[in-house]
Amino acid sequence: PKRAEHLAAGGVLPHGLPAAVGAELAAADREIRPGGPQPGDSRSDDELIADFAADIRDFADRGGLAGAVVVNVASTEPAPDSSRLPASSLYAAAALRAGCPYVNFTPSTGLHHPSLADLAATSGLPHAGRDGKTGQTLLRSVLAPMFLQRSLSVRAWSGTNLLGGGDGAALADPGAAAAKNAGKERVLADALGAAPEGEVHIDDVPALGDWKTAWDHIAFDGFLGSRMILQTIWQGCDSALAAPLVLDLARLLLRAHEKGVEGPLPELGFYFKDPDGDASPALAEQYATLVGFAGSLR
Ligand SMILES: NC(=O)c1ccc[n+]([C@@H]2O[C@H](COP(=O)([O-])OP(=O)(O)OC[C@H]3O[C@@H](n4cnc5c(N)ncnc54)[C@H](O)[C@@H]3O)[C@@H](O)[C@H]2O)c1
Repeated sequence: PKRAEHLAAGGVLPHGLPAAVGAELAAADREIRPGGPQPGDSRSDDELIADFAADIRDFADRGGLAGAVVVNVASTEPAPDSSRLPASSLYAAAALRAGCPYVNFTPSTGLHHPSLADLAATSGLPHAGRDGKTGQTLLRSVLAPMFLQRSLSVRAWSGTNLLGGGDGAALADPGAAAAKNAGKERVLADALGAAPEGEVHIDDVPALGDWKTAWDHIAFDGFLGSRMILQTIWQGCDSALAAPLVLDLARLLLRAHEKGVEGPLPELGFYFKDPDGDASPALAEQYATLVGFAGSLR
């Protein structure tokens, strides 16, 4: 409820909405269970997975739910560097063990851990990821195919992001930022056939709150090598861009599960920076694939 008030004060949510849904938010808050592992936790990875799976089953049972979908929207983790599973992978394994479809909306490892490959392949459950595509990468997945189709050769594609909010703070950690930027750069390499020169930077600017600014600078060549530049400035509200995607994904995964669809869903590449499989990186083609997939679930 406090977070909703903060979002309303910041102009993200309509004034009055937090009060109107206050009871639902308080009920959701009461469902929060400690994740982990907490510092000093002596449980093994398998024990943690079993405990988290029991929490998820208990939630579904108490609510009398016909189905539940687990969506990871926790802070970006740095790439794992120990033999222990990172929290995102513990939660992903717990979701499948509890019989729930799973979505990874973050760049964190989740089901992409080598020791979870068997579970992901044999769970019989649908799953999708990774890292929601809501701003800079969304725009890149529209523009990059244009350069290719017009034979405009991209020499360099550089980007800078100014982020407030919790995500900006988490991505101030170079390890977490590296995990995030790998996904952002993948779309260019896939769409253009090779990664152009240029890097992506993320700066934490707490004063921006939920808004972020993404600046892209694209140097490209036209006929006979004539040099040109395109610059784009995206000013978006992260929460408002992400929330409807999370709702879509929960509903699509639940329906896919009901229809007996299992395994990774490259058909949902429209939503992700780093999608499963080798589907087209171009947004228009991803949308056509999504519409076809949604039609097959009717
Ligand atoms: N437009 C978007 O908002 C967008 C787009 C793509 C991806 N993402 C990803 O979604 C994630 C969340 O973004 P955000 O802006 O909401 O971040 P945020 O910092 O506002 O919220 C993250 C929440 O996760 C919690 N958390 C951290 N570690 C946890 C753990 N181990 N177990 C349980 N909870 C944990 C934090 O306490 C915090 O409440 C990030 O990984 C971000 O990169 C967001």
